[in-house]
Amino acid sequence: MNIVVGISGGIAAYKSPHLVRLLRDAGHSVQCVATTHALEFVTRTTLETVSGRRLYCDLFDPANDHSTEHISLKDWCDAVIVAPATANIIGKMANGIADDALSTLLLAVGGKPIFVCPAMNSEMWRNTAVQRNIETLRRQGVVMIGPDDGHLACGTNGVGRMSQPEAIVAAFNAATAEAKFLAGKWVLVTAGPTYERIDPVRFIGNYSSGKMGVALAEALAEAGATVELVAGPMQARCHAERVNVHNVESAQEMYDAATQLFPQCDAAILAAAVADYRPDHCADTKIKRQDKDEMTLRLVRNPDILATLGSHKRDDQTLIGFALETNDEERHAKDKLERKNLDYIVLNSLRDKGAGFGVDTNKVTILRRDGEIHSLPLMDKHEVARQIVAYCFPTLQP
Ligand code: CTP
Repeated sequence: MNIVVGISGGIAAYKSPHLVRLLRDAGHSVQCVATTHALEFVTRTTLETVSGRRLYCDLFDPANDHSTEHISLKDWCDAVIVAPATANIIGKMANGIADDALSTLLLAVGGKPIFVCPAMNSEMWRNTAVQRNIETLRRQGVVMIGPDDGHLACGTNGVGRMSQPEAIVAAFNAATAEAKFLAGKWVLVTAGPTYERIDPVRFIGNYSSGKMGVALAEALAEAGATVELVAGPMQARCHAERVNVHNVESAQEMYDAATQLFPQCDAAILAAAVADYRPDHCADTKIKRQDKDEMTLRLVRNPDILATLGSHKRDDQTLIGFALETNDEERHAKDKLERKNLDYIVLNSLRDKGAGFGVDTNKVTILRRDGEIHSLPLMDKHEVARQIVAYCFPTLQP
């Protein structure tokens, strides 16, 4: 792999040449990018010697190939490891600040896996602003390696020590071993039913188990994506790493969460079985049986989440919907795909045995916007999910 090792200005920078050496021994090509403060702790000569490449440090160095070296480097590299990462570079990364070669490259490098190895004093590490920045980066799919607990350069003991280069390489290898073709991507998934309240003890719901949506969230996370899972009330639980679960109850709550999250996402897969209508109001107290044989509930329309996302979708976003049909399946699904401005629609036919609500298997046909139709056999929902992810994200694969 082509790896950029970013070095910021902390005492742990003395370990960076060793990290570069280990990565090169493992067969990787390494380009060092350092801040000017890093060069107070480790020399340009050392970094250039161990990497075998000219150091990139100054955006405007006349020795650069051209003034957009950060752009050519972001195209060249397959991954970035920032080691050591000071509180300062972490703060810049989390807030989109680009005022030197390293921070500018990190801002440009979106879409490639980024590993951050923090190194700082314990008090700095615990600081609320630093923890907020770490959380922001984690949510963007940045992988944190360390910091470790141990002896610190300031003479104290505590959390904040940069992980040993051997441990950094091991964590990096483990994270990149599989085909993580969605690393750095952010995907919204909706799953499960919605409950539309009638009164404090009753609701209108449906039989959706949420299993398909959870399987999709897990398949996406397996492929390296960070997932925002907006889940209706359901039994299925998702324990995968990099899946942030947002529990909602009604279609309106699901709409609010999904429309808020979508602008930051690269893609969305809406697998929830959303109630199209809800009672026009929820009674404050339990509705008592009345002395008549009939009662009427007045329903009003819920917002269509998929259609709303379709109408706001940017060119760089992929939108995938589901369609559950009982007749004229492909025609109805194709119509939905066009009406809601989708890139793909996953069709479930209730006529297929073993497909649909409650069961562990599913049989789907995926329709692509350009008319291609991809039919899958009856499979376990997890395998169906993996196949949907592989078919719908070809452009994101290397
Ligand atoms: N969907 C949604 N919001 C709604 C209704 C549906 O996001 N209020 C999404 C579902 O998650 C699914 C897709 O739309 O991805 C298709 O849902 P479906 O109920 O089959 O489509 P409708 O447009 O409601 O069409 P119809 O009920 O007429 O078949």
